[in-house]
Amino acid sequence: MVKFFIDTGDISKVEEYKKLGIFDGVTTNPMLVTKEGGDMRKDFKEFNLKMLNVAGDIPVSIEVTCNDYDGMVKEAHELARLGKNVVIKIPMHKDGIIACKTLTDEGIKVNVTACMNARQCLIAASAGATYASIFFARVYDMGYDPVPIIREAVTFLDEHNANKRFDRRTDLIVGSLRSLYDIDQAIRSGAHILTVPYRFIDGMIYHVRTEETINEFLKNWQDDRKIKN
Ligand code: E4P
Repeated sequence: MVKFFIDTGDISKVEEYKKLGIFDGVTTNPMLVTKEGGDMRKDFKEFNLKMLNVAGDIPVSIEVTCNDYDGMVKEAHELARLGKNVVIKIPMHKDGIIACKTLTDEGIKVNVTACMNARQCLIAASAGATYASIFFARVYDMGYDPVPIIREAVTFLDEHNANKRFDRRTDLIVGSLRSLYDIDQAIRSGAHILTVPYRFIDGMIYHVRTEETINEFLKNWQDDRKIKN
């Protein structure tokens, strides 16, 4: 059963859409914070504290802002102290995998991000990641169909999760969703989690024919009341 996260750097959107009660997590990245974070983004620690507080009980993936092992681990330790619901987003590369292993061995949850294929997701799982994030539209932009790649990644991770040798489960997050069509495709691919940009959430709920039907029922009811009174 697929779960949904919100993909945004806008704290007010987390506040607004969390009320729906259908989101099990939040993901951000430095570019989203830069583009959507407003004035809050200028103090990254304050920004993260506010985001974590608004998210409440659901996990928030916060990405490190450097690429070297020492820098990422140092930043991850600082971020992990900000709240119980922090997940550290670490980029998928050699230093990132070593940092992922270090942090997960310390009990810190990690989301290995910017994966483009199933093999990378499996490596993230082997390093103890709680999540491996694969980027739908960026895979597509390179000329590949993301659907079979996601299916393969889910198969790999499900096998990994069923293997008693590994004590941590790794879920596949599909990010980089740029249309409702991408969202439908990612659901069909069997992804464990979709992280949805807030601009698509209303569109996932709304349907013109649903609106017409609701209004038709209501109008019928109201017309009937008029006749009786
Ligand atoms: C989520 O974890 C990603 O950071 C995000 O979805 C990337 O989206 P983009 O490829 O549209 O930048």
